[in-house]
Amino acid sequence: MALPWILTVLSLLPLFEAQNPANVSITAMPITNATLNWLAGKWFYIGSAFRNPEYKQAAEQIQAAFFYFYPNLTEDTILLREYQTMEDRCVYNSSQLRVQRKNGTLSKLEGDKEHFAHLKLLEDPRSFMLAFQPEDEKNLGLSFYADSPDVSQEQIGEFQKAVISVGMKKSEIMYTDWKKDLCGPLQRQPELREMKAEEEKP
Ligand SMILES: *[C@@H]1O[C@H](CO)[C@@H](O)[C@H](O)[C@H]1NC(C)=O
Ligand SMILES: *[C@@H]1O[C@H](CO)[C@@H](O)[C@H](O)[C@H]1NC(C)=O
Ligand SMILES: *[C@@H]1O[C@H](CO)[C@@H](O)[C@H](O)[C@H]1NC(C)=O
Ligand SMILES: *[C@@H]1O[C@H](CO)[C@@H](O)[C@H](O)[C@H]1NC(C)=O
Ligand SMILES: *[C@@H]1O[C@H](CO)[C@@H](O)[C@H](O)[C@H]1NC(C)=O
Repeated sequence: MALPWILTVLSLLPLFEAQNPANVSITAMPITNATLNWLAGKWFYIGSAFRNPEYKQAAEQIQAAFFYFYPNLTEDTILLREYQTMEDRCVYNSSQLRVQRKNGTLSKLEGDKEHFAHLKLLEDPRSFMLAFQPEDEKNLGLSFYADSPDVSQEQIGEFQKAVISVGMKKSEIMYTDWKKDLCGPLQRQPELREMKAEEEKP
């Protein structure tokens, strides 16, 4: 089992070398096939800090959340299947994200409004961030995701540093509480297995 792991690490190296790990400033970083392959799979929403009142209100309602990314490298889209616990119940939703490779953004169409988020890789490849409206001091936001709900102090510390570096305060961060998750037991496993089977077809 050691070999696949080493191969994965090596193939990710160019991805992370391109970033200055000590500097989490919000600059454009193109999204490549390697980025999209790395993003594929299950992620947990850990926390966020939002100035935009609409985003902030939405984030306040989320007690816990996890989701699956299924990128399509030829269409430049990501199928998103999300399992959010809010008001003590599990809400499942699926939607299609668009990928703008050049400016390193993902977007979601809601009604006639397209919401953009800049993908930000962190030093720790088991986590990533999304930056919302980074150019607008009154509306900016950062959200933080990891491949496990049990994040380390180092991972949290990296996110807090990023929040501070964009001019927000640690106290503006809202964290989810994995103990409140009600979706885990309900997730649609058969459907997900079908998806994986689809993907493995040549
Ligand atoms: C990141 O790098 C830029 C340009 O080199 C610099 O202006 C900025 O202060 C750095 N930010 C941090 C948090 O180190
Ligand atoms: C990507 O999208 C195209 C067009 O919809 C489809 O033919 C293809 O099977 C998709 N690829 C994957 C890996 O889902
Ligand atoms: C990315 O992957 C897709 C699907 O495998 C391929 O068609 C495309 O040429 C790749 N793009 C680059 C820049 O390698
Ligand atoms: C699911 O997502 C769509 C598109 O983003 C949205 O319009 C809809 O309100 C969402 N449904 C729930 C139950 O959150
Ligand atoms: C990113 O690029 C797309 C397509 O070129 C453009 O429509 C969009 O406005 C850009 N978004 C940001 C936030 O720069």
